Amino acid sequence: MLSGILIATLLVIIFTWIYRECKRPKDFPKGPRWLPIIGNLHLIDALKKKHGYFFTVLEKLSEEYGPVYGLKLGQNLTVVITDYGIMKDALSREEFQGRPNGFVFTMRTFGEKLGIGFADGPICTSVRNFTMKTLKDVGLGKGNMHGHVTEEASEMVKYLKNHYAETSTKEENPIALDLLFKLCILNSQWMLIAGKRFEYEEAKFVQILNLATSFLQNFDGSGGIISHLPWLRFIAPDASGFTDLNNAILPMQQYFQEIIADHKREFDVNAAHDNLVDLFLAEISKQKEPSQVFNEKQLLGTLFDLFMAGMITLSDAMGNMLHLLAERPELQKELQEEIDQVIGRNTLPTMDYYNKMPLMRAFNLETLRFSSIVPIGVARRAMKDTTLLHYRIPKDTVLVPVLDQVTVRDEEYWNEPQTFQPDRFLSADRAELKINEREKVPFGFGKRRCPGDLITSQTMFVFMASILQSFTILPDKEKERKMEWVEGITFTPPPFTGSIRARD
Ligand code: HEM
Repeated sequence: MLSGILIATLLVIIFTWIYRECKRPKDFPKGPRWLPIIGNLHLIDALKKKHGYFFTVLEKLSEEYGPVYGLKLGQNLTVVITDYGIMKDALSREEFQGRPNGFVFTMRTFGEKLGIGFADGPICTSVRNFTMKTLKDVGLGKGNMHGHVTEEASEMVKYLKNHYAETSTKEENPIALDLLFKLCILNSQWMLIAGKRFEYEEAKFVQILNLATSFLQNFDGSGGIISHLPWLRFIAPDASGFTDLNNAILPMQQYFQEIIADHKREFDVNAAHDNLVDLFLAEISKQKEPSQVFNEKQLLGTLFDLFMAGMITLSDAMGNMLHLLAERPELQKELQEEIDQVIGRNTLPTMDYYNKMPLMRAFNLETLRFSSIVPIGVARRAMKDTTLLHYRIPKDTVLVPVLDQVTVRDEEYWNEPQTFQPDRFLSADRAELKINEREKVPFGFGKRRCPGDLITSQTMFVFMASILQSFTILPDKEKERKMEWVEGITFTPPPFTGSIRARD
């Protein structure tokens, strides 16, 4: 009798739990039914096998459920948005300026929400405001940085000319151009961030870059499996990506801690500082009480975020440019003609020419649109119970804006969005850049929008103009090679294995 009551009670508890787990909150956006514990992850996994990537799965689901629909990823209620207008309005609203609480977003910062990119609230806003203002003060997006970018681009061309001189007699001269780009891009920004530049063959640098790439490839903008089911790390550390994430994070933490320690050793509070690390340390030294904004953990988180958000995205953009140009000799010729007319062959390409070269800028904009470098953005979190259209959105719901849908799939807005056409950003006579309200979509919306958009355009402009001024990019000789883009938080192009030829 007693055991019968116990079993019945247990069954009631189990069924109530299952009912609650599977219940869609009242007025939550419609979407596929979900299961206890895993939510819709089984469906996402099955659809990924069919459609390839997470962002393509989200796009496919929107064909069935519309531009705003609800999912549950593990324990995370998630709202996916694929429509431009709704996305723009939602992501600009104050209550959607949060970032998800997922496990992966705090792994790099000792389990706390620190740094800029994955934290939220007033402390994060203060860290972001201080960091971006300080970077601007030391020259980000201005003359000082333009100088570093031009210097790095000209060093890169010198290096390539030497490489070319040594190899031009051979039939081909492949070079890891994308790796070289990464190094130069890092150097042009790292001077302002940490007051340091790297030598091209420096092993430590290549190691850190590879670790950063591996880190970003082990989760997506919504947090990925390790955020949706964090306990998986205990039972399936390899399959959940935990091992790779940990292997990437620990040496990177150590690397950034060494940078901070080096700066502290040489720190002179009265000296004039010209980089973010020193200026952050100066601010820390002014604090009379322990500060939640100005402390070394925040500085470490900020270095992490700038390194990854700035370096990897920009490198992916440059990698895509190489692939696109190698396949389009006609476009290269047109860009080279523009360079010859506006800059000439013997003057260094600098930001002074930025507004005088519409074709090069249209090429940059189209590359950013077409390449979907951050295909689902960086997810947001509802910071309180709220509404979206006529739906109710509970606090902590994760918002996923599918940027790729807006930039590459929206056939009602773009003419043939899945073809690469720089001319869509040009006037009919190609003499002027045609401003398009969606050109900045790859950088997100609202207050959490990417602060690196201008730096990105400027860096892409100077580097690509410098390469094409002296070289023509040749296609990959092994064209049959399967070209696979890898999806993580960024959508990374395959290594570029083409080569270059000096221009006549
Ligand atoms: C191809 C280049 C880049 C692309 C496509 C890109 C894209 C993005 C996107 C989509 C976001 C999320 C925005 C949102 O939530 O609405 C973001 C955030 C961010 N990006 Fe970029 N980014 C690029 C380059 C850079 C560069 C060069 C920097 C260096 C300063 C940078 C720094 C950041 C930071 C710090 C955040 C976090 C902002 C916050 O959470 O408040 N990004 N980026």
